[in-house]
Amino acid sequence: MPAPRQAAERAEALRAEIERHNYAYYVLDAPTVPDAEYDRLFRELQSLEIQHPDLLTPDSPTLRVGGHPLPEFAPVRHAVPMLSIKTETDTGPEGARSFDARVRRALGLEEGAPPVEYAAELKFDGLAISLRYEDGVLMRAATRGDGESGEDVTQNVRTIRRIPLRLHGAAPDLLEVRGEVFMSRPDFERYNARQRALAKPTLVNPRNGAAGSIRQLDPTVAAERPLSFYAYGVGESRGWALPLNHSGTLDALEAFGIPVCEHRIVVRGAEELISFHARILALRDALPFDIDGVVYKVNSLAEQKQLGFVSREPRWAVAHKYPAQEEMTEVVGIEVQVGRTGKLTPVARLAPVFVGGVTVTNATLHNEDEVRRKDVRVGDTVIVRRAGDVIPEVVAVIKERRPKSVEHEEPWNLFKAVKGVCHACGSAIARDEGEVDWRCTAGLYCPAQRKQAILHFASRRALDIEGLGEKLVDQLVERKLVESVADLYDPGRINVESLAGLERMGEKSAQNIVAAIEASKDTTLARLIYALGIRNVGEATAKDLARHFGSINGLMETGAEELQRVPDVGPVVAESIAGFFAEPHNREVIARLEQAGVRGRAETRPTEEAAVVAGLTFVLTGTLPRLTREEAAALIEAQGGKVSGSVSKKTDYVVAGEDAGSKLDKARALGVAVIDENGLRLLLGN
Ligand code: IVH
Repeated sequence: MPAPRQAAERAEALRAEIERHNYAYYVLDAPTVPDAEYDRLFRELQSLEIQHPDLLTPDSPTLRVGGHPLPEFAPVRHAVPMLSIKTETDTGPEGARSFDARVRRALGLEEGAPPVEYAAELKFDGLAISLRYEDGVLMRAATRGDGESGEDVTQNVRTIRRIPLRLHGAAPDLLEVRGEVFMSRPDFERYNARQRALAKPTLVNPRNGAAGSIRQLDPTVAAERPLSFYAYGVGESRGWALPLNHSGTLDALEAFGIPVCEHRIVVRGAEELISFHARILALRDALPFDIDGVVYKVNSLAEQKQLGFVSREPRWAVAHKYPAQEEMTEVVGIEVQVGRTGKLTPVARLAPVFVGGVTVTNATLHNEDEVRRKDVRVGDTVIVRRAGDVIPEVVAVIKERRPKSVEHEEPWNLFKAVKGVCHACGSAIARDEGEVDWRCTAGLYCPAQRKQAILHFASRRALDIEGLGEKLVDQLVERKLVESVADLYDPGRINVESLAGLERMGEKSAQNIVAAIEASKDTTLARLIYALGIRNVGEATAKDLARHFGSINGLMETGAEELQRVPDVGPVVAESIAGFFAEPHNREVIARLEQAGVRGRAETRPTEEAAVVAGLTFVLTGTLPRLTREEAAALIEAQGGKVSGSVSKKTDYVVAGEDAGSKLDKARALGVAVIDENGLRLLLGN
């Protein structure tokens, strides 16, 4: 039974409205409705179509979410073949000049004849698609295939929101739009991030992403992949007065609601082509999608006809390339670098490869998880990417090229590769929970971190050593005058004479620096803790720690568990602190600082904590690690607490040391809180 007229009218109105919103959102990038309203309209249309299947039209936006899986793609013959264009491999200006010369010769132009008019546009790096609009409705989309016939990928192409399902305005009887389907970089990154979070396979690059999505037999899978489209020409057409030139054709397509890239221009002669090529190259890295060059086309369609084709390539068009941003090469080793902040980064050593305009011999692998995820091994052939100024990275392994011998190797493991230590200083490495990076724990000692550690130590909010800036620190470290922050206070190393001999230094500046170093000894504990550069310990945490421990030694001797009792110190921060002080190299530096007189004075005594202890009853049992029982009792009493000899319900805390006996058992039986010496120190605020 056909649907009632009312329903049919409503469905048509919904289709038009939804597509208007789609166009505004995806093509104009100017949303017209909130998502919730869009969803409501969409669902209303869906339910109308379910109730009245005869209302489902080929231009219904509900088809954009994908339909049933196909057994295979049907072949499609292209009435107008989809040809490719010649590639000008000379990436320099000669590429444009030789094309222009060929065109002029073929058009029979004399030396002095006016310059030829060209349309210049981008060469998108995706895959070619032909969209067939009949009476303005998208009826079929096909891949290029061999140029003569391709595959029917209509279902998948309908999921691309930027492609209109119905042309705007008065549409021709028939119009085939030709262009490129691609995945933008941000969409690619977002998609991969989501896949990683779901532990699902990721895409190697946007190009593969686009090609793979279009050739998905299950359109719901294709619908999940965010694709884009730009038109660059037309195929067959009927009932349409073709514009006189190529630029006019693109303008007309744009008026039909088809996305056409804004980076297009009409120019005259080779020199203007060259400047377009250069201008777009400068813009390349800022574009949200990959291009591999620009395309020049003779603008006049009459001249295009005159020029015709040679061996199935138009003589009127050429692709003028840019250096490739991705290339293949072999991994000859995997090394680990220590950065200025102690971060350990796996780096692939590569067989030299020319990519992104330079020869690349190493590429970052980011972190251990990335190496595992990509499963990069020594001996593998990989794709390396270098875009703009970005550090070259290994994009993916080409598994088909993996040698047999490599297949049997174990996946790479950072800890094993470096045998658990930082190669720059031999100290322990650690990886915090929830973190992707391994780090060297010897921040005060490690040569790789030296400059950074010294600069931080001397910075204004830390020990505030005026004049100790980057240039000076560079020289101090490079001349081995300073190897750790403790060396700053060694008069045998740092003195007016040794400083005065450095670049941009005179007697006076040297005296100033020496005085500033001397003055820095008088500092607060909070500043000193902050100055140590313990990971995750900023100024606020340093202040909390100073207030609680009262001395660097108290802090140094406290384990991760106890540290968590300090307000705002969670497990991660506690681990960072404990890990830092567990590294003997760091302790050595602190001991030397202390000897030199850099101790950090405790500021006002903690009143809050004193109030905690006052009025409480403590029982001491067993041997405490650092305090005798008398000392502990004196400290408690000094803050207004009481010390009792036996445990009862009235006892507030039992302080238990080693070999605690029956008092501990009794405390447990009565449910009295049991703490150790560190716990007591925390309560005492020291
Ligand atoms: S014009 C007859 N314009 O590059 C001319 N092609 O070999 C037909 N491509 O696979 C092509 N951007 O998919 C043209 N602005 C552009 C293009 C472009 C990318 C692709 C196209 C084809 C190949 C040309």
